[in-house]
Amino acid sequence: MTAAPTTDGAAATYGSRTHWDGVHALLEDRALLEDRSGARPQAAGALLDHMAAVADRLAGAGGVVMDLGAGQGALVRALAQPGRLVIASDIAAGPLAAIRVPGIAGLVADAARPALKPGVIDLITCLRGLWTLPDPAGVLTAMAGLLAPGGHILVQLWDRPARCRLIGTGAALLGKVLPGLTRPAGEAGPFDIDPDGLVALAAPAGLELVAIEDGAATAGICDAAGYWREFDALAETAAAARLRAPAALQARLDAALPGVLDRVLPRGGDAAVWQAPIAWHLCTLAPRTVQDRITPPG
Ligand SMILES: C[S@@+](CC[C@H](N)C(=O)[O-])C[C@H]1O[C@@H](n2cnc3c(N)ncnc32)[C@H](O)[C@@H]1O
Repeated sequence: MTAAPTTDGAAATYGSRTHWDGVHALLEDRALLEDRSGARPQAAGALLDHMAAVADRLAGAGGVVMDLGAGQGALVRALAQPGRLVIASDIAAGPLAAIRVPGIAGLVADAARPALKPGVIDLITCLRGLWTLPDPAGVLTAMAGLLAPGGHILVQLWDRPARCRLIGTGAALLGKVLPGLTRPAGEAGPFDIDPDGLVALAAPAGLELVAIEDGAATAGICDAAGYWREFDALAETAAAARLRAPAALQARLDAALPGVLDRVLPRGGDAAVWQAPIAWHLCTLAPRTVQDRITPPG
């Protein structure tokens, strides 16, 4: 059983509602993807823009869109538009309550038990979420049941670790000093589901992969604060664990970080700036057609 510290120091099982409530409580006032100070994280921002553009295309002008594991609502805010109902769904109530935007409805629910009528959603999105779910195949089955005719599910996955050193570097460093972050065997991590794995998880739900769009971004990192700003926007559980650590430990991490970045990241044209890459797949799933289902294999 994985335990993660909560805001009050008690232990919460990783992936439970208590775990996510604790993570969001720590991060919610940071408005990670809001561009209020001109310090929008480059990598998370590029991913969000790409996901929103593909989702927008799939959703069409009207219709009903549900974002699964909506968190602080960066994607639902990007998708809200007149004539479209956007449902922000999450196991954690706190971040949903903070989304007060016309056209966005909050749904506090476990993804495995969405408590909606079947056949009503035109597009379901899942950004940085599938691998955080205890039973992703079961959730895909539940989601398939919610789709309206012609509906789609858009799932974001990370590319391989070598293309995602922006998150891998910080996660490895934090894993060494914060033992509570270590995942036990058998629990999925961010790189454990690739497009082939998604196809296998989706097949029992009667879903097939109909399109993949790849994307990539590079964040320019000048110092530890700049690195954590990019990292925290992409790895909330690790970010929350770092922010809960004693100040002295956080200071030691900041001091160690430049040496670690020097070993794993290239410098750009400006030698003072590390180039931290991230790459992703946006995978579109749709119900298999009747023709597909009755065609015998081979
Ligand atoms: C890594 S965060 C991603 C948040 C958001 N999609 C984004 O990209 O900013 C994963 C989200 O999934 C939610 N979540 C985790 N387990 C869930 C479950 N079983 N049902 C619904 N939401 C869940 C968490 O509360 C969290 O907001």
